[in-house]
Amino acid sequence: MKTINYLASILVVANTTTAAVSANEKVEDVYKSNCASCHGAQLQGAMASSLLDANWITDGSDDALTNAIKSGLVDRGMPAFGHALSEETIRTLVVYIRETSYNADTAKIQTPTLSKQFKTALHDVNTREVLSASGIIWAMDFLPDGSLLYTLREGELWHLNPKGKRTKIKETPEVWHRGQGGLLDVLPDPDYLKNGWIYLSYSKKTGKNEANRDIGITAIVRGKIKNGQWTEQQTLFEAPKQTHKNRGWHFGSRFAIDGNYLYFTNGDEGHQDDAQNLKTQNGKIHRIYKDGRIPKDNPFYNQKDSLKTIWTYGNRNPQGLVIHPTTNQVWSTEHGPRGGDELNLINKGVNYGWPKVTFGMNYDGSPITPHTDLPGMQLPVHQWTPSIAVAGMNFYTGKQFKNWEGDLFVGSLAKKQLHRLRIKNNRVVDDEIILKGLGRIRDVVTAPTGELYITINDRKSNQSKIVALSAVK
Ligand code: HEC
Repeated sequence: MKTINYLASILVVANTTTAAVSANEKVEDVYKSNCASCHGAQLQGAMASSLLDANWITDGSDDALTNAIKSGLVDRGMPAFGHALSEETIRTLVVYIRETSYNADTAKIQTPTLSKQFKTALHDVNTREVLSASGIIWAMDFLPDGSLLYTLREGELWHLNPKGKRTKIKETPEVWHRGQGGLLDVLPDPDYLKNGWIYLSYSKKTGKNEANRDIGITAIVRGKIKNGQWTEQQTLFEAPKQTHKNRGWHFGSRFAIDGNYLYFTNGDEGHQDDAQNLKTQNGKIHRIYKDGRIPKDNPFYNQKDSLKTIWTYGNRNPQGLVIHPTTNQVWSTEHGPRGGDELNLINKGVNYGWPKVTFGMNYDGSPITPHTDLPGMQLPVHQWTPSIAVAGMNFYTGKQFKNWEGDLFVGSLAKKQLHRLRIKNNRVVDDEIILKGLGRIRDVVTAPTGELYITINDRKSNQSKIVALSAVK
């Protein structure tokens, strides 16, 4: 009886798939017209099995699912779609399957209540609200005296002293607060006690394009705070004039300092093909000295027409950048499109592939490329499909959470999750969601007290909080 059903629907499918799928068709529509009749409108299963659970007939890997769709599982009644659907459309279906099953899975995770304990695999955790502010807290970091600096994207830098008194720093640079732009990262110099430098990144309006619309760039500066005032500012990086064209998003931008080197990220600024173009700052991770000079051993320093500051390229929108506390490796999280968020180990001169390779698809469900891997391009160490919207991250370097020492904590915006990654031999061996639902988590940092601080934000109310996680003894 079952077989007859399958055969009947194969005939139906054969009819519907004779119409060629256009290259830009959205994955929801492709799924509805080709797959829903057997696997159910919500992928929940009908006459064919659910695509949401982890009970696979194949080994369940991306490759196995791709092959099943392309070549069919003919003896089981799964038709082959390799003739009707292009490779990139089949890739969007795999992303769609991952997305839908992930959403069903993680919907079960309970959101903890602030100030109430909750359990994770390795620690019981308590939360405490440190402060609440209106607007988006984009970044935070501690000064050696235990006070905290944080940025509000609208263009404000704040100082919170250890007693809880807040001061808004005066005379910080004017920012272009549009789209994803504004005042972004803040990082005190590791030698702050000696030199007092604080580094800031922000989006800066630089003029208008031919269509008379505002354009801008990501600017990198450093300065000092004296008597509650931003002073002695030095500009460390501004992209060359001819490259100024930002559409208002994907500015990056995070810092990391290793010795005398300052690394910073610059998103593709909404021009994805720029990520492969060495003449522009967009879609790159850059390396300069802390005072803005450019190291002569940068990979493209001597290459004609290339930006001398580029350290790596093919980086879509890196929203996290951190130096490993003992190995000094540079790690970065990169915001993918719909699917294909990445964790990358950043090495000199490497091409990370965007937009030639990605595990994701366009936001509207249309394909970008069938390629998740190509020669000469670096695969991520770890990738999230669906995208969690990876943001800021940090290694835990405190003493309070004994079982978390050295783990990497990664914030997620869209999924409102905090991930704990354990890394061994440059591989992620554990990816635990330790917290979900409190808010969009944009930055994570270890406090001098050994607590783990996160920033959370609620889009609707436009409120942000800084929350401290402590270990329950
Ligand atoms: C005629 C019915 C039918 C249609 C249409 C169909 N499938 Fe299937 N599919 C099956 C059957 C039957 C299986 C084998 C598993 C089972 O017994 O349900 C299967 C298996 C699969 C598997 C492998 C699952 C595993 O357990 O490893 C994937 C992936 C899959 N289908 C995706 C799709 C996608 C995507 C589409 C649309 C492009 C689609 N299928 C359309 C019937 C169908």
